[in-house]
Amino acid sequence: MRWPRGFTGRLCFGGDYNPEQWPEDVWLEDVELMRRCGVNLVTVGVFAWSRLEPREGEYDFGWLDRVLDLLHGGGVRVALATPTASPPPWFGFAYPDALPVTRDGVRLSHGSRDAYCASAPAYRAACRRISTALSHRYGEHPALALWHVHNEYGTWCHCEHVAARFRRWLRRRYHTLEALNEAWTTAFWSQHYAEWDHVLPPRATQYLPNPSQLLDFRRFLSAELLACFREQRDLLRSSTPDVPVTTNLVLGSWVPVDQWEWAREVDLVAIDHYPASAAGLAAEEETAFAADLARGWAGGAPWLLMEQAPNLIYSGGRMLPKRPGQMTRLSLSHIARGSIGSMFFQWRAPRGGAEAFHSALLPHAGARSRVFDEAVELGAALGRLTTAGVADGPVEARVALVWDPQSWWALQGPGLPASDLEYWAAARSVHASAWRLGVTVDVVAPGAALSPYRVVLLPCLYLTAAATAAAVSAFVASGGHAAVWYLSGVADVDGRIHPGGPPGPLGDLLGLRVEQMCPVPDGTALALTTGASGSLWSELLRLDGATSMAEYAGGDLAGEPAITRHPVGAGAAWYVSTRLDEAALDLLLAGVLRDAGVAAAASGTQPGVEVVRRRSGVIFALNHTRDEAVLAVSGKELLSGARIDGELRLAPGAVAAIVASAP
Ligand code: GLA
Repeated sequence: MRWPRGFTGRLCFGGDYNPEQWPEDVWLEDVELMRRCGVNLVTVGVFAWSRLEPREGEYDFGWLDRVLDLLHGGGVRVALATPTASPPPWFGFAYPDALPVTRDGVRLSHGSRDAYCASAPAYRAACRRISTALSHRYGEHPALALWHVHNEYGTWCHCEHVAARFRRWLRRRYHTLEALNEAWTTAFWSQHYAEWDHVLPPRATQYLPNPSQLLDFRRFLSAELLACFREQRDLLRSSTPDVPVTTNLVLGSWVPVDQWEWAREVDLVAIDHYPASAAGLAAEEETAFAADLARGWAGGAPWLLMEQAPNLIYSGGRMLPKRPGQMTRLSLSHIARGSIGSMFFQWRAPRGGAEAFHSALLPHAGARSRVFDEAVELGAALGRLTTAGVADGPVEARVALVWDPQSWWALQGPGLPASDLEYWAAARSVHASAWRLGVTVDVVAPGAALSPYRVVLLPCLYLTAAATAAAVSAFVASGGHAAVWYLSGVADVDGRIHPGGPPGPLGDLLGLRVEQMCPVPDGTALALTTGASGSLWSELLRLDGATSMAEYAGGDLAGEPAITRHPVGAGAAWYVSTRLDEAALDLLLAGVLRDAGVAAAASGTQPGVEVVRRRSGVIFALNHTRDEAVLAVSGKELLSGARIDGELRLAPGAVAAIVASAP
C-alpha cells in the first residue's frame, strides 16, 4: 500500500472536480470554497479527454496547467486521472473498429461515455499516448499526489479484436483444444470445437448459452481490462516512480473484474460506493460491507473511498436525499473500516449532461446549503482525526467471510435451478447479520489463510475448488468454526458439477451430502421446527456425521434436517440449507459465534449502533438509530475532545472516535 504523495498519515477529503465544465472565474470560487471545507485532494481530468486532445495528436494543456497551479496555490492536491474511460468523438471516426460491439452485433457510437473496445489496438495506442503526454507534462507538478487511471473499469465488447484476444487467453489457460472442450462440456448440444478459430465470445445465440464459456469470458474481460490498466500504470510508474497509481474499483453485477487479482496490481486499493437502497438501515449495512470488501482486497492494509454521493441514494428509481448527518456517518463508517479518506463524486453540480441531477458537495443551490455545511463539518472532523494520528491502523476482526466474484458470475449463468440466486444478496445478508450483531467481519478470498480467525462464513460459494475446501477443513480441524450456506460446493472452477453433487469437496467437512435441491416458489414460507422460517431454497440432506439442529416443519421435507452442525476435531462446521429470514439468520449466527467464543465489538448495543475497534485501541462508534445509545468505554473522544469516564452517551445520529483507556 502506498499513500498519495504528501498524505502519509493524513486523511484525504475531496472528490471529482471537473473545471473543464466551467468558466475560469468559477475556478477561483471553487478553490476558495474547497479551502473553506478543508478539501485537500481532488480528482481532475477523469472525463476531460476531448478537452485535452481536441483533435488527434493536438493537445491543449493550457487550461489544465492553470487548474493545477490554482489548486496548488490553494493547498489542494490532485489525483490526476487519465481520461481513457471516455474517448472523444473523433476517436470513433478515426478508428471505427475500436468502438464496442454488443453481444447482438450492434456497434455502439459515441454519445455517452466508455465508447471503446479495450482489445482494439487503436484504443490501446491512444490510451498510451494520452497517459504518456499527461505524465510528461505533470509528472513534476507539485500538486500531483496520485495517478487515477481510467474510471471504473468494467466495459464489455464482443467484436473481432475481442474474439482474437479471447482465443489467445483461452489457449494460455487450456493449452489444448481438448482441455477447453472438456472444461466447457462441449459434448453437450454438439458444441465440440475442432478449430481454435471457431471459438467465439458469447455472442447472441439461439437458446441458452454455454455457462462455462460465459464464465471464462468474464475472466478474460477481467484479465484484458487489467492488461489495459497495467499498460498505463507502467508508463506512469516509469516516469514518476514516487507517485502511486490506482484506479477506482466499482461494485456491480455487470462488472467483469476480479478484484482479488486487481488489488495486487494497484499501489492503493480505491473503491467507489453507491448504496443500492435507502430503506431502513440498508445503506448503512451496505456501506459496512463495501468497506470490509475493500479492506479485504487491500489485504487488511489501508485503502481509499474514491467516490460516494454527497447527497443521494438511488433507491427504487428515485434519487433520495441523504438524511441529515448521514453523509458524515457513512463517511466515518468507511474510515473506521480502513479508508484513508472520504472522497465524493462530485465537487460541483454540473449545468447539464446526463448527470445534471447527481448530487455534489457544492449543489446547484450553492454554498448556502445543508450539504455544503455538512461538507464543512466533515472536513473539520477528518482534520481532527488526522491531528489525533488515527488516519490508519489495522481493524480488529475474528470472523472472515469468503467472497468470490467468480461464484457471483457463475450464479448469473443460464439454466440454474432458480433464476434469482443472487450471490451479492446472499453474501450481503450474512454480512448484514454480523453487522446487526455488532461483530466486525474481514472479507477474504477463497482459499485464503484463515488462521487469524475464529469463524469463517461461506455464503453460497457455488464454485468451490478442492484447495478452498481443504483450507476451510484444516481451519476447522484446528479448532475453527465454519458456517456454510446452500449452493456451496456445487461446481468446480470450470463450472462443472462436482461428481456426487453438492457440497462436493465440502462434504466430509460438513458431514453430509445434498441428495436433492428443492427450490420453492416465491411466497412459500418454509417453516422450521425451531420456529424459524426460510424461503427460496430447500434441500433434501443425507447426514453422514452431522447432527440436525433444525428440521423442516412441513411440506414434502417435513422432519428432514434443514440446519446441521458437524463437530470436527476441535472445531465445528454448520450447514444451512435454506435462505433464512432476518431474525432466524441472526439467531443462527449468534449461535455460531457463541459456539466459537466470538463476542460483539461492544456489549449491550442495539442493531444500528456500529462499533469498530482498531488494534491500536481506537474505537469508532456510529449511532445510525433514532435512539440514544450507551457504550461502556473510557478514554478521550477525538471529535469533541471530551473525556469519557466509563460511559459514552451517543445521541441519535452521532459519531464518536475514542482513544480508549482503562476505566
Ligand atoms: C460512478 C462514476 C462517476 C459517476 C457516478 C455517478 O461512480 O465513476 O463518474 O458517474 O458513478 O453515481
